[in-house]
Amino acid sequence: MRILNFGSCNIDCVYYVDHIVKPSETTAAKQMNTYAGGKGLNQSIAMARAGAEIFHAGCIGPDGAMLRELMLSCGINLDYLKTIKENTGHAVIQVDRSGENSIVLYNGANSAVTRDYIDFVLEEFKSGDFLLLQNEISELSYLIDSAEDKGMQILLNPSPFQDELKDLDFNKISYLILNEIEAAGFSGLYEPEEFILWIKERYPELRVILTLGDKGSIYFDRNIKTFQPAFKVDAVDATAAGDTFTGYFAACIFNGKSIETALKYASAAAALAVSRKGAAPSIPAYIEVKNSLNILQPKIFDGFQQMKNAVRLYFESHTDDASLSGLAVRLGYSASYTGRWLRENMHSTFSKLLLEARCRKTAEYLETTDMPVSDIIELAGYRNESFLRKAFLKEYGCTPMEYRKAKRGKIHDE
Ligand code: RIB
Repeated sequence: MRILNFGSCNIDCVYYVDHIVKPSETTAAKQMNTYAGGKGLNQSIAMARAGAEIFHAGCIGPDGAMLRELMLSCGINLDYLKTIKENTGHAVIQVDRSGENSIVLYNGANSAVTRDYIDFVLEEFKSGDFLLLQNEISELSYLIDSAEDKGMQILLNPSPFQDELKDLDFNKISYLILNEIEAAGFSGLYEPEEFILWIKERYPELRVILTLGDKGSIYFDRNIKTFQPAFKVDAVDATAAGDTFTGYFAACIFNGKSIETALKYASAAAALAVSRKGAAPSIPAYIEVKNSLNILQPKIFDGFQQMKNAVRLYFESHTDDASLSGLAVRLGYSASYTGRWLRENMHSTFSKLLLEARCRKTAEYLETTDMPVSDIIELAGYRNESFLRKAFLKEYGCTPMEYRKAKRGKIHDE
């Protein structure tokens, strides 16, 4: 099995400013650097640094020699990288003192990806191989159609978002990796939970990774939903943090790691990238990421509402394996303080909140699927059917089947 990233390569001109310049304003930059960048190149480097053997295809111009050299030095296979007459793509990036950025992109050679070139490269790949894509090269939908025809597994990071992406058929995608802004671009919804319901209804088989910046990231598919907190670092430059996350996640999945491990490594790698300047140069090596996992602390929540949301999300994604110590790690507190916080602020206990979350999950499965109650037991985290029935009756005042009948008007099993 092989992994190909068909993606952009840019030269980034990065200006470090006090604040991002406003319309009609002129501001002086404190520093200016030129770095290797482009979402495609950044993600290839992240994958290579995470230990994946990766092929990169895309177009650069005669001015892109330093990008080629950098990728080669990272061990990326460039057999399919094309050098053309057009100038290499470039980005003008402002980074403010909090590390936030704004980017103007000139596509250059990235727009010269043609159908013939795609056919030529994909000819070398086969069913089951991975293809990673972003939205900075031409002919994206042709690439997706062709790769899907071949049976390749497509990981799509639809970044930067453009309205044309709304026409894409996500049934062809294996993993969709996107941030809140991109999620809102597709759905018009800014609340993560609302987006999750929206996309699940349309693409129940899709595996989605939703990144929420310093609020963490969520993975969900038809059966599971899991949350990974972001790690606390001093932000210097957010450029390529998302690319680092995507590259590390893709490499971990490609190398057979679990979703939880992939999310953890991707989050730690992105946190390290945020603490350093530049795009490609900020992407950490695997060993740095591994060592940082013993040092980095999950981000602690600063507001009551954020804490409550985190508690709710934890119970939703851990109905089958929740523990007080797991929730405590998630919140960044000790187990005893977490128990006290739940009592004082949510007027509840760990066991009561877990039971409620299990009942909510049971209700969701009853309403949205045809699964027999006997199959829902495990998914909702119960030990046996009578336990589920008792808890459900107490919470909803009816049996699971009465609930399903009331909601859907028909009974499938009893
Ligand atoms: O995601 C960061 C990248 O976006 C930069 O390296 C820049 O080139 C733009 O493509």
